[in-house]
Amino acid sequence: MDISFNAISELEKKTLFFIDESLALSSTLSSIDNQSGGAVTKAIESSGYKADLGKMLSVFSASGGDVEQIILCGLGDSESGVKNELDIQKLGGKIYSFLDGERISAVSVCVEGTIGGFAPDFVAANIAYGINLRGYRFDKYFTKQKEEDKPSLKSVSIVLDSVKEAKSKYKNYQSVAEGVFIARDVISEPPNVLYPETYAEKCKELKELGVKVEVLGEKEMAKLGMGSLLSVGQGSEKESKLVVMQWNGAAKNSGQPVAFVGKGVTFDTGGISLKPGLNMHEMKYDMGGSATVVGTIKALASRKARVNAIGVIGCVENMPGGGASRPGDIVTSMSGQTIENLNTDAEGRLVLADALWYTQDRFKPKFMINLATLTGAMVIALGVHRAGIFSNNDELAERLYRVGEDIGDRVWRFPMGEEYNKQMDSKVADIQNISNMKGAGSITAAQFLERFVNDTPWCHIDIAGVCWASTPDDLTPEGARGWGVRLLDKLVAEHYEV
Ligand code: BES
Ligand code: MN
Ligand code: ZN
Repeated sequence: MDISFNAISELEKKTLFFIDESLALSSTLSSIDNQSGGAVTKAIESSGYKADLGKMLSVFSASGGDVEQIILCGLGDSESGVKNELDIQKLGGKIYSFLDGERISAVSVCVEGTIGGFAPDFVAANIAYGINLRGYRFDKYFTKQKEEDKPSLKSVSIVLDSVKEAKSKYKNYQSVAEGVFIARDVISEPPNVLYPETYAEKCKELKELGVKVEVLGEKEMAKLGMGSLLSVGQGSEKESKLVVMQWNGAAKNSGQPVAFVGKGVTFDTGGISLKPGLNMHEMKYDMGGSATVVGTIKALASRKARVNAIGVIGCVENMPGGGASRPGDIVTSMSGQTIENLNTDAEGRLVLADALWYTQDRFKPKFMINLATLTGAMVIALGVHRAGIFSNNDELAERLYRVGEDIGDRVWRFPMGEEYNKQMDSKVADIQNISNMKGAGSITAAQFLERFVNDTPWCHIDIAGVCWASTPDDLTPEGARGWGVRLLDKLVAEHYEV
């Protein structure tokens, strides 16, 4: 899909106009209405169109000059209308869905005057961003696709007076969208195609943007003492990998970097504690946390963010097999702490234990945020609309909450504490990987992780419920959402860029 910004004089045959509940026509729309003998006014009258937010009305006109199909897009009134950036982006997403549903291939979208008090260039950039995010498809594996199943929309031309300003505003959003898209891509890839080695190769693409990418194999990790992470992959034919990405967009002496750490289980069978067969295929998205990290680093590098950011992802495949770890095994983590593995399906925390320890040990970051599709209990607690956050630092948790409300990747903080921490004590080792009591499965998982962060300000985001969508929403098609890329990008933009 090609998205461009052009002058208002260049209207396509099909053009969308915004209209609020006063039903007043913008100047361009009004002149088209006049040329067409009042076709627009008549259509509004006869259909009883009220311009509710996001409500569309198509008007066909034989004599409206160059424009043959006029699409009205409602803006509601001051109460129901758009109030912020996110609302405008969502409206863009709604526009995409409508145009795709109508099988329209080329359209112009006319932005005249302010919308919700926002200047046309800002509106145009955000509409374009919403269209772009909602228009993502993962269709590379279809060898035959019916015409009606293919995306119809090929070109969107946003027309307005301040073309230059809109273009430059859109550039940043476009960079972030690229981060979201790589996250969606790697989550969507099947687990026979995307496994630790191929995933690490994919990460190397970020080198083109100036990101330093290192890949550690099993030998290197064994040398570092990562017995916890390595135990997860030992039943798999695929070699485990740790990918370390560094984006240095700020001066060398600008203080500690920020760090993002992700669970990259490219497939989670549960291991010897095998999962039930029903819907097991969904566990291809068990690398979703790491995808957010890759996407965030890509977004930061694409828009040349003035920040030093580290991304570390632990990539493993959790398989049963003759070499697989057994319930009852005790492994030694890089931190030196021993871990009793009582359930090989609680593998994500074993991966993160070493990835987190490594990250703080090597980079001494300002903070670490880790993301993981960590617990089924998270889906029970919050469903699909919010991710849970768990933190040892109020400021970091508060910032994530605020930014999430603004950009739409919303979070909710859970409690932590000594009483939960104790539930992870093992009878025979320093810690065990499942709780010794029922309940609070997401919190006890977070307590496990906290034992591997060593006083670093830290936040764990459990994205088990939000990573994958079974139905589309305004900014995402069905499937991989790329959740968290926009959240972390904005967190950096608002609080950590120099
Ligand atoms: N990857 C799963 C968690 C998950 C479940 C993510 C559903 C997305 C959707 C994780 O590795 C897991 O299996 N967790 C176990 C932990 C338990 C054994 C303590 C779980 O939640 O059942
Ligand atoms: Mn598991
Ligand atoms: Zn898992």
